[in-house]
Amino acid sequence: LPISALDSLSEAAKSVDDACGGLITRLVKSGDMSIETGQSLLLVEPTGLNANRLLLVATGKQDLNEQGASKFANAIGTALSRLQIKSADVVVDGISVSDRDSAWIAKTTARAIAAASYRFNEFKTSGKKQPGLKKVNLVLPERKGAAAIQRAAQTGAAIASGVNTARHLGDLPGNVCTPAYLAKQGRALARNHADISCTVVSEKEMRTLGMHSLLSVSAGSAQPAKLGVLNYQGGDKNQKPTVLVGKGVTFDSGGISLKPGAGMDEMKYDMCGAASVLGVFAALGELKPAINVVGVIPTVENMPGSRATKPGDIVKSLSGQTIEILNTDAEGRLILFDALTYAERFNPETVIDIATLTGACVIALGNHASGLFSNSDALADKLIDAGASADDRAWRLPIWPEYDQQLKSNFADMANIGGRNAGSVTAACFLARFTKDYRWAHLDIAGTAWNSGSNKGATGRPVPLLMEYLLSTAGN
Ligand code: BES
Ligand code: MN
Ligand code: ZN
Repeated sequence: LPISALDSLSEAAKSVDDACGGLITRLVKSGDMSIETGQSLLLVEPTGLNANRLLLVATGKQDLNEQGASKFANAIGTALSRLQIKSADVVVDGISVSDRDSAWIAKTTARAIAAASYRFNEFKTSGKKQPGLKKVNLVLPERKGAAAIQRAAQTGAAIASGVNTARHLGDLPGNVCTPAYLAKQGRALARNHADISCTVVSEKEMRTLGMHSLLSVSAGSAQPAKLGVLNYQGGDKNQKPTVLVGKGVTFDSGGISLKPGAGMDEMKYDMCGAASVLGVFAALGELKPAINVVGVIPTVENMPGSRATKPGDIVKSLSGQTIEILNTDAEGRLILFDALTYAERFNPETVIDIATLTGACVIALGNHASGLFSNSDALADKLIDAGASADDRAWRLPIWPEYDQQLKSNFADMANIGGRNAGSVTAACFLARFTKDYRWAHLDIAGTAWNSGSNKGATGRPVPLLMEYLLSTAGN
């Protein structure tokens, strides 16, 4: 039950307050129930109510903005996920968000609640499965508009299942989640959804095609590279697809340019771009919007084996351009380069790549926003709006030709690194060299795809942003 300041309690809150003999009023007055956004209080066996538990969650003192509303919705999700309950009624009344309607509120609430159910304990021998929340009813103040709100809530829940798919793949350890494993996940999606198909390009086929930039990254690994291609056809056959390209480095040791040891375990998350594309397809399979989407998922393991690529090696990419590999730890761009060239064959309307590409992006933007780069202002604006709506924000950085200068090589068409300055920008400039022929955006999710520290775990970002964007192209 949402709770606000006493002078602006919703009709629903007032009637619960009456039924409980003014308990809510007393709790707010005494300060036991704080009305700061997201604060909550659980009452057990409340007298006067036909419910085992009553969870009060504060909306805050004023109208909410999008971040405030997400904070409020996440608080409901977190509080519910801690309870040993199978079902809950969530009152959607007394919440107002600037510039957003009740369908948006329902979508945000449903997404937050469904995402909060995520657990990752399959590798803990004592981690027995808890039953968990199965069913949530949204309770509305009036019948009017209920159909649209229900649809919005279903959209939110489907986005959350895409988020949780991406989180699970991200959290899996590198010895389980290999390129072959991710390929298997793609095939499973195709098996479970009639409008999704999947093909996997093998190393042998990639060699024939000439994807030597991609292959140079997996050269030092015992795990063969795979290029997964997913196709979701929900729209007209002639409608050009949006192509999503996801970086899938299932472990990034740095290769011969080996990373330092501290925190290296987190490089199992270097496939979170790939995981977000798989998450988007899981959500598309559930929602079946009238759009066409292709997923291109280059997956490799970056290891310093005896056949590994060495600093100074020169390779020829699928596009024909040659690359001097000065640092084998700048591998994401090498696999994306060939994948972005490969994407051309789908005659795309738009191409968006998603990658944990640079540590420099974490320095620039921290954990709050993904880095956004694009050759189209209109596309960049749409993605920024989608992120703002979905509590999954992105912030744009430039890809001016001045920065591209830093990629000059004495021996090949370009080097794969551009020095310390503006590391995220030069990485994006590198990709931009292969994306001149279509509308393109690059999302650097190095700071947003997972949390570190005691909270370590994948976030499932930017699945919400991508889904919001894709659904907006369908006019949903
Ligand atoms: N996967 C890393 C980027 C990364 C680092 C993401 C830390 C999240 C946290 C990427 O492959 C990488 O190693 N990038 C290098 C590029 C450099 C060698 C030009 C980096 O950021 O240090
Ligand atoms: Mn690297
Ligand atoms: Zn990497």
